[in-house]
Formats: sequence, C-alpha cells, structure tokens
Amino acid sequence: MSTLHNRRILLIDDTPSIHEDFRKILLLDTQAEAELDAVEAALFGEEVKASAPAFELDSAYQGQEGLAKVCQAMRANRPYALAFVDMRMPLGWDGVETIEQLWQEDPRLQIVICTAYADYSWEEVLDRLDSRDRLLILKKPFDNIEVCQLANTLTVKWEMTQRAALQMSDLEAKVVERTREIRQASEALQVEIVERKQLQSQLLQAEKLASIGQLAAGVAHEINNPIGYISSNFCTLEGYYAGLLEMLSAYEAVEQTVGSPEVVAKLQALRERLELDFLKEDIPQLMRESRQGIARVRQIVQDLKDFSRIDSTQEWQWANLEEGIDSTLNIVANEIKYKADVVKQYAGIGEIECLPAQLNQVILNLLVNAAQAMGPERGTISIRTGTTAERVWIEVADSGQGIAAQVLPRIFEPFFTTKPIGQGTGLGLSLSYGIVHKHNGTLNVDSAVGLGSTFRLELPVRQPVQPE
Ligand SMILES: Nc1ncnc2c1ncn2[C@@H]1O[C@H](COP(=O)(O)OP(=O)(O)OP(=O)(O)O)[C@@H](O)[C@H]1O
Ligand SMILES: [Mg+2]
Repeated sequence: MSTLHNRRILLIDDTPSIHEDFRKILLLDTQAEAELDAVEAALFGEEVKASAPAFELDSAYQGQEGLAKVCQAMRANRPYALAFVDMRMPLGWDGVETIEQLWQEDPRLQIVICTAYADYSWEEVLDRLDSRDRLLILKKPFDNIEVCQLANTLTVKWEMTQRAALQMSDLEAKVVERTREIRQASEALQVEIVERKQLQSQLLQAEKLASIGQLAAGVAHEINNPIGYISSNFCTLEGYYAGLLEMLSAYEAVEQTVGSPEVVAKLQALRERLELDFLKEDIPQLMRESRQGIARVRQIVQDLKDFSRIDSTQEWQWANLEEGIDSTLNIVANEIKYKADVVKQYAGIGEIECLPAQLNQVILNLLVNAAQAMGPERGTISIRTGTTAERVWIEVADSGQGIAAQVLPRIFEPFFTTKPIGQGTGLGLSLSYGIVHKHNGTLNVDSAVGLGSTFRLELPVRQPVQPE
C-alpha cells in the first residue's frame, strides 16, 4: 500500500507571497516538528515519535501552468493528492475554469479553493464544478492551522479513496472470477447431466438390443438344425433324381422294342398325361431354385447369428466392415426392398479393430433411417466405403426427404424424433453416435431438404489406446 502514500501538493495562486506563506506552513512546520520530536526523544531517552510525513509542495502562478504541472506529474506517475487553487487570477483562467481543467486531467485530485471574494456565488461555483466531494473552500485570510489540517486530512483522504477504489476493483475482479467459476461449474454439470442421460438411454437401448439379439440368436439356432438336414437331404435327392433320370432314359431307349402295340400306346398316353418332357426340363429348374432358396435361408440364419452376436463379452476384434454391411443389409432387406434400390460402392477397406456387432447396429440404424426417409416414390440408398490415411469411412446416402435446418442440430439427441408416436423412439442416432464415439470415430451428416441426406462414418483402423 506504500505506493498509495501521497503527500504531494500543488499551489496555484498568482500572488507570490501566498506561496511563501504556504511554504512556511507546510514545509517548515513539519520539519521543525520532526526536529523537536528528535531532540525530545534524545533528551528523555524515548523512541523517536512517528511524526506526520512531510509534504512536497509545488508552485504554479497561473491556471495553465498548474494544469501543465498536473499533466507532467501524471506522466511521471507521481500525481498530486491536493491542489490549493486561488479563485481570482486575472491574467489567465480563473479558479473555477482551472479546477475544471485539472479534474479533466486527474479526477482524483482533492481541491481547496482559496479566496477572499468570488466572482461567482458559491452556489454557482458548486453547480459548475459538480464534484462537491473533492472540493473544499478556504476563505482568506486563513489561519496556519486551517491550511495544515486541510493538507493533512485531504492527502489522507486521497490515499483512502485510492485504497477504497483499489479494493473495489479487486472485489469486482473477484466477483467476476467467482461468477466465471460458477458458470463453468454449472456448464460442466449440464454436460454431465446430458452425458448421463445419453448413457442411461444407451444402456436401455443396449439392453433392448441384447434381448432382441438373444431372441434372434435363439430363432437362428432353431432354424439352423432343420435347414441343415433339408440341405443335406436335398443333395442326396438330387443324386437320386439323376439316377432315376438315367433309368428313365434307359427305359425309353428300349420302349420301341416292346412287342405289344397296346403297351406302347399306353406308355405313350401316360407320357403325354404326365408331360414327361416338360417334367424333365422343369424338375432341374425347380431343384436349382430350391437349392438357391436353401442357400439363402442358410445365409439369413448365418447373418442373424453374426448380427445378434451382441457380443456378451464385447471383445475388440479385427473385423471386415463391408461383410458387416452385407449381413446388415440382409437383415433389413424387407424394410428397404419396397422403398429403395441399394447401390453398393465398396473400396475394399479391409479389417479394422472394432466391436463388430455394435458397428452393425450403427449401419442398421442408418439404413433404416434412410429407408424411412423415402417418400412415396422409389428412391436410392447408396453405400460407399473408402480409406484415408489411418482411417476408414462409410457413407450411407439416401435420396429421401432430407433434414430441415432447424431439426439438424438435434438429430443426435436421445429421444429426438420427428416420426409419429410408435414409429420412432429417437434413439437410433444417439445410440449410433455413442458407439462411434467409443470407437474414437466421427459421425457426420450432410443434408438438403428434398434431395436427401448423407451420413458419413469415419473410424480409425487401429484403436489409439488399448480399448477398455
Ligand atoms: N436419413 C434421414 N433422412 C431424414 N431424416 C433423418 C434421417 N436420419 C435421421 N433423420 C431424422 O433424425 C431423427 C432422429 O433419428 P433417430 O434414428 O435417432 O430416431 P428415429 O429414427 O426417429 O427413431 P428410432 O431410430 O429410435 O426408431 C429422425 O426422427 C429424423 O427426423
Ligand atoms: Mg432411426
């Protein structure tokens, strides 16, 4: 606080003798008093009393000169605490104008107007200066003690005002800092609340998916057995049929050698009734189709098993995402096939370190959303893949209705849906976002109303740190 100590006084008066008087009162008195205290202390063996610190007195004989001194003092960072200003100085500014100028330069300056008479009424002076808290009036002729006391109290007042202002700004800074801290804490809390909500909804969704997954796995297992023996029996049947066909051809070859025309006619009639030639053509065709059907059922069952491996152990593994997309496409084929054609442009992105079942879930959500975004007309869903440096990307683009600008910022929020009650829970994208985030990836969307939307998923090939 020592920087606040200020005993600097400026006297502005056009009468040189006044300067002499002030010098005697303010400089000599304090000096004499200090010397007296020192003698007293030496005589009586007491400690030297701390006397009032000495003043520093500067002189100016005109308002302009006074202002110049104040400016200079400000520049030197040694402001005056107090100025005594004469009211009547015929050659330049009068006291009131001088004070106005001084305060413009240094509003902290304490001022005493000294005068025997005024050219304004005191009311006028006070109205013009409008800063009664820094202005005192000293009427001439004055007593030494009046000057001395004014100098003492006003310099101390200057100090105290400075100290109060400092404390106030300190306090304000503290209030600003605290407010900032509180705001930060509340923002952090908000973020945590949102994260918790998301986590909770993801847990719910994950539980739902896990039970659906188990159900699907159970059904797949049930179908897997019968389809297994249907498939194997069918192979055997094909073999048997080939044998029968061979036998039939042999019979046909000897048919002409049968002696009885009656029997030959009978065989002929039977062949025509059964449309044997057509059967010989159609049976292999039917068998081929059935074989494809059986293969398709086996594939679906396999996909279901792959997909519903809502990995109870949730192990990070190296998996091929394009294969994952294909299994997922089989799962959602029904959802898509009446609404859009699927165009695949795979770049062969290879394997990445991931939780494959969860990424299948993301692809499923994107595909279902894309299908649901289609209008009455049949559209297109394009699935593209690619790689950039250490990352792979997958894009699911649709030619659907697009997403309105005001909806776009909210689509990843849990429970946000624009679909009718019962159709959408609003969890698909928030869940997907969570899964992608867990993979240290990004999920972005680009959309144009009326043209369609593209969701782009980017994932690192290798997880940066040991995944949990
Ligand atoms: N491809 C898209 N085209 C247009 N709008 C979309 C698309 N994907 C998402 N949206 C918008 O984002 C919203 C949120 O999608 P999200 O998948 O999270 O929930 P949902 O599809 O409404 O319900 P849920 O997936 O839980 O069945 C949707 O309601 C829809 O408004
Ligand atoms: Mg959805």
